[in-house]
Amino acid sequence: MLTDRRQVLKGLAAAALASTAGGSGLLARTAAPDLPPRPPAGAGRVHDWIFAAAERPVRLLGPDGPVTTVWSYSDEFLPIKRVRVGDTIRTRLENRLGEHTALHWHGVRVPNAMDGVPYLTQAPVTKGESFLYEVAPPDPGTFFIHPHCNESGQTGRGLSAVLIVEGDERRRPDADLVAAYKDWRLAEDGTWLPFETPEGASRAGTYGTVRAVNGVAPTTHRVPAGGDIRLRILNLDATRVIEPGIEGAEAAVIAIDGNAVTPFPLDTWRMGPAMRIDVLVRAPAPGESFRLIDYFSAEPWTLATYETAKGEARPKRAFDPAILYAPDLPRADLRNAQRLNYTFSAASGAVTEAAAMLTPDDPLAKILLDGLCVRDTSFWAINKASWASGSQPQMPPPLGLFETGRSYVLELMNATPHHHPIHLHGHTFEVLSASRLKRPRHFADTVLLQPKERIEIAFVAAPGNWMFHCHVLEHMEYGMMGYLRVA
Ligand code: C2O
Ligand code: CU
Repeated sequence: MLTDRRQVLKGLAAAALASTAGGSGLLARTAAPDLPPRPPAGAGRVHDWIFAAAERPVRLLGPDGPVTTVWSYSDEFLPIKRVRVGDTIRTRLENRLGEHTALHWHGVRVPNAMDGVPYLTQAPVTKGESFLYEVAPPDPGTFFIHPHCNESGQTGRGLSAVLIVEGDERRRPDADLVAAYKDWRLAEDGTWLPFETPEGASRAGTYGTVRAVNGVAPTTHRVPAGGDIRLRILNLDATRVIEPGIEGAEAAVIAIDGNAVTPFPLDTWRMGPAMRIDVLVRAPAPGESFRLIDYFSAEPWTLATYETAKGEARPKRAFDPAILYAPDLPRADLRNAQRLNYTFSAASGAVTEAAAMLTPDDPLAKILLDGLCVRDTSFWAINKASWASGSQPQMPPPLGLFETGRSYVLELMNATPHHHPIHLHGHTFEVLSASRLKRPRHFADTVLLQPKERIEIAFVAAPGNWMFHCHVLEHMEYGMMGYLRVA
């Protein structure tokens, strides 16, 4: 009887979820057939940057609030860096923190030695040391930079930067703005709350207490009336799934994880941690405004407001969001691709497995988890293997052996009731199909596996040891992480 009722409720919940699923019901064909090819990049500039990872005082709770000791790469709290395809970035990471760190270039197809994963691709950069990264981003788009060690603690205190690689536009928009979403886990006195909790690590992740965009509380931005606004929306949160939409203006998705798509109207788009979309918005008439809203929250939550100036307006022309060139990426040969399966599940072990399989608000989980020592526990696994938590001088065996230049189709299977944004380093893969959330076929570096979802991705293997993990930071740190070896 009771089980029956549970089944019915589960069915209803699933149906409700499916009907609110984000993304417009769109074509499932090639990624960007209608966009013209991008002209080759010429010899570019060299950028010499210093990223000095250090503690700095910042008033995260507002100008009248308390001072928080953040960790950042520069005095600019969230650096937003711009380069062009063809440029070379030389970044010296200087570590002035009390623990080791490294720089990972999320989504950028870098050579393996520049990928910034301690022990796997380089020695950790310890206190007082530095490391020189040389990266020539081959693809334009919206990316970000973050450490790949104690990630919930290091990015939780602020270590990240946005990286914009220009060179994908055949028509310039009238404005180009960044909305990088990330919560802070702060107490009222401005001190940090624990970034990891057993309840969070074993389930949907530990949520921040203060919601923020570009580091601060949502604000109002000025945009040209009637102009085309390129909005680069990044989910840099440790945990939270967001589902942005635009209210008050026409908007189209023009890129996913930095990769141009044939534009389609933005209804809402569900994004797990690490995922990005670029949107083109036609700003309204003088004196009007539009809002960027997260519809995944219990109540729609305004991420940013964009206000047009009174008086002047751009000359009216029809809204045409096809402003980008097609992406120029290796494309898997699907007929000859090797197929492999990866299942994302709870770690084996009675308590962790039981806790992870409960729905997010089941009170039983709390009872199961009380008394667990979180650092000694793996809660998650990929193909039954759990990445050992804590420091990692010893590498486990890879999750698979791949051949350089060969095409692969991976079927990703979520055996849990939680969301998992799955990220593969060093590659831009094509999302071929998904069993639950409707999405156009597109290129990405991170894909959101809905509860119980099955997704197929395809890529051409590039040489190196490449991390493959969930980007909910506590999930990766508590087991849902591994690497693929391409030789
Ligand atoms: Cu943002 Cu292992 O990555
Ligand atoms: Cu996960």
